[in-house]
Amino acid sequence: MSLFKKNTTMGDRGETVDDRLKHIAFIMDGNGRWARRRGMPREFGHSHGAATFKKIGRYCEKIGIRYMTVYAFSTENWKRPQKEVDEIMRIFYEYIEDCMIEMKTDNAHFRFIGNLSIFSPELRAKMEKADRETVDKPFTLNIAVNYGGREEIANACNRLIAEGKTQITEENINSHLYTTPCPDPDLIVRTGGEYRTSNFLLWQSAYSEFYFSKTLWPDYSAKDVDEAVAAFYERKRRYGGVV
Ligand code: FPP
Repeated sequence: MSLFKKNTTMGDRGETVDDRLKHIAFIMDGNGRWARRRGMPREFGHSHGAATFKKIGRYCEKIGIRYMTVYAFSTENWKRPQKEVDEIMRIFYEYIEDCMIEMKTDNAHFRFIGNLSIFSPELRAKMEKADRETVDKPFTLNIAVNYGGREEIANACNRLIAEGKTQITEENINSHLYTTPCPDPDLIVRTGGEYRTSNFLLWQSAYSEFYFSKTLWPDYSAKDVDEAVAAFYERKRRYGGVV
């Protein structure tokens, strides 16, 4: 019996997180290596990565997480070989098409964050439609595309200048981020064994807990989420104070 319990996940047991863990974010790294290890092109890893992303999103929602943000494509990822960029974009477009269908039954509020001006008006209209029509759903899913943390902060400042603000404050930057009005991430997980933030949620991560997993993203599972969640609950968050 205890062995059986050990092999179940929080989700299987009907356990949920509490208010300390409202927002989880993922740097979904390791798709390329996962594919290479199988003698396949890197793009093969991205399509498996997209399936993992859907699965992990559903799991996070199931265990009561309210906000999830994923780093799908950075402002720097355009430097990759054109074939790989094209395939990631193809997967992404396909995902948006799926959203248009799944949004009716899904519990997610789909939000696409980043500098979206690079995408065609048609695609942006679809992103906006998915966002608008799911706005009342309980689980917020931020999908960061053409996203860079530095660009996000510069963009917030430029919008403030355009609004005629003469002083930049933490509060007014906070209210002009792509993730606004979501709370800052409580936990940021990076898969794939690297230990860096790669320009992800720079402003929002000031007091986030970080968890680094060696698992390559396409292999990432509910059990891995449980491990990260358990590690999060071991942390003492002091926000610069004393506890
Ligand atoms: C990092 O792995 C992954 C990416 C840059 C792309 C992530 C894209 C997806 C998971 C698919 C599309 C997403 C959505 C939202 C449908 P890497 O390529 O850097 O892997 P490596 O470190 O092993 O080379």
